[in-house]
Amino acid sequence: MKIAIYDNAEQVAEQAANIICRTINSKANTVLGLATGRTPLKTYQQLIKSHKQGSVDFSQVASFNLDEYLGVKPDSHNSYRFFMNENLFRHINIKLENTAVPCSDSDKVNQTCHQYEQQIKQCGGIDLQLLGLGSNGHIGFNEPSSSFASRTRVVALASSTLSDNSDLLTTQEQAIDKAISMGIATILESKEIVIIALGKAKAQAVALAIEGALSASCPASCLQMHGNVTWLLDQEASSLLTQKRYYQLSQQLLA
Ligand code: GLP
Repeated sequence: MKIAIYDNAEQVAEQAANIICRTINSKANTVLGLATGRTPLKTYQQLIKSHKQGSVDFSQVASFNLDEYLGVKPDSHNSYRFFMNENLFRHINIKLENTAVPCSDSDKVNQTCHQYEQQIKQCGGIDLQLLGLGSNGHIGFNEPSSSFASRTRVVALASSTLSDNSDLLTTQEQAIDKAISMGIATILESKEIVIIALGKAKAQAVALAIEGALSASCPASCLQMHGNVTWLLDQEASSLLTQKRYYQLSQQLLA
């Protein structure tokens, strides 16, 4: 794993956006895996800026989002579809029909999950998956105890996730306590993975995922098994890593 530590969230976002732009510039029809939450917001702002400056073209890009709250309509302000449209898609020239967010507002969610996997395969797989990290070590909505062999499915949300995310819910809705999430095996099939973690609240999960044992108790530790992962951290998120000096030295070798 490549582990890069930056002074602040702005530098992390700049680096994440650079990696994404570089990928799209070398393959116009890149398939992106995208994340929601607070963590990728600055990266999306950077991507919008790069697009407006004419340095990246999303017209042939396709995207798959990691997850969506169960039973939430796409036009609800709580939905991840709404989040993506507002924070990225409507500001760039990606074709909305090429952007996929799991549709959880259906009677046939299990079928939807299966189709989502098929759709990713039909596109040739995800070239670059962007991830955030839950304070409990989750990726997507794969909470601790999720199997490393898991695929896209309906999942329950951990209490810590519900409280971490409560500020992001903008309108009252029926209880949100489940979601559709890409599985860990689905995520690990991406050709390249960039995971961002910012702030002190993520420091323990970062340390467990990078330096701890491979364990379903820390879903992000699965990334140790992937051959092309880059961790982008700010100082606070990296504060509990014991080998920080080594990572910083190795960082000098990164292009
Ligand atoms: C959310 C999302 C994840 C996200 C993580 C961190 O619940 N399902 O994809 O990466 O939790 O959220 P935040 O970036 O707001 O800290």
